[in-house]
Amino acid sequence: MSYENIIFQIDQGVAIIKFNRPKALNAVNTEVLRELGQAMDAIEADSSIKALILTGEGTKSFVAGADISQMVNLTPIQLRKFSRDGQEILFRLEALPIPVIACVNGFALGGGTEITMACDFIYASETAKFGQPEINLGVIPGFGGTQRLSRLVGKSMAKELCMTGVMISAQEAKAIGLVNKVFPPDKLWEEAMKAARAMATKGRVSMRAMKRCIDRGYDVDLHSGCYMESDAFALCMASPDGKEGMTAFLEKRAAEFKGELD
Ligand code: CAA
Repeated sequence: MSYENIIFQIDQGVAIIKFNRPKALNAVNTEVLRELGQAMDAIEADSSIKALILTGEGTKSFVAGADISQMVNLTPIQLRKFSRDGQEILFRLEALPIPVIACVNGFALGGGTEITMACDFIYASETAKFGQPEINLGVIPGFGGTQRLSRLVGKSMAKELCMTGVMISAQEAKAIGLVNKVFPPDKLWEEAMKAARAMATKGRVSMRAMKRCIDRGYDVDLHSGCYMESDAFALCMASPDGKEGMTAFLEKRAAEFKGELD
């Protein structure tokens, strides 16, 4: 499969997606969405992939938003489809059974911040900038930003960011709980890879179950979430990986997870 607007690579079990339109600061258009879907088909079909990192090509930008030059020419029906397609891609990204790290190397604005919020967590360079500047264009976020931002940083903080359209630094984004860790630019990739490789050694079954419990549990009441957790806990405990992990601990050796259910 060929890609022109993203770079898709697999490095020893870690998949890497790089947004690759540096002249447009990696702005997302319909082709980028299509290629992201293609890359996700490949990731879903390959059980040897244990983690995914998303980043931007070049030093300046992760993704500077949806492509304004394309959107300006779309009809209302086409714009609704573009928004729904973007949202669907981000739902797919969020539902991948593996850990997904947003490695933010520069501008993550509008659709860029929205992509990072569909990842499991965000590592950012000291030079990264986040924001939902759509209000400055007379529009609103369209890839889930009005929904995920308030869930992540609280309603009033989300409103302030969306209503003012200001850009915030990586440190500010960390202070409000959007970003997990901030690194010097030359250390960011190394740290994201280190985290991805560490997670890639864990059991695939328990990783998937734990990710689903946190994500699905976030949108339901505490009691329903805890029931979900007990079911997943029992399944993981009884799985070959669970048995291997606990036996390895008792035998004082490193576990070798196979990622099989039975
Ligand atoms: N869409 C299309 N092209 C973009 C773009 C975008 N979102 N962001 C940057 N570009 C292009 C610029 O038009 C410019 O192209 P040319 O060289 O052909 O003129 C090139 O990238 C470089 O950009 P600048 O010259 O503007 O670079 P800068 O360093 O001066 O500024 C910036 C950088 C502050 C990020 C500025 O480019 C900017 O404000 N970009 C737009 C950010 C934005 O509003 N994003 C939200 C888009 S709407 C959205 O995302 C909706 C949604 O939720 C789905």
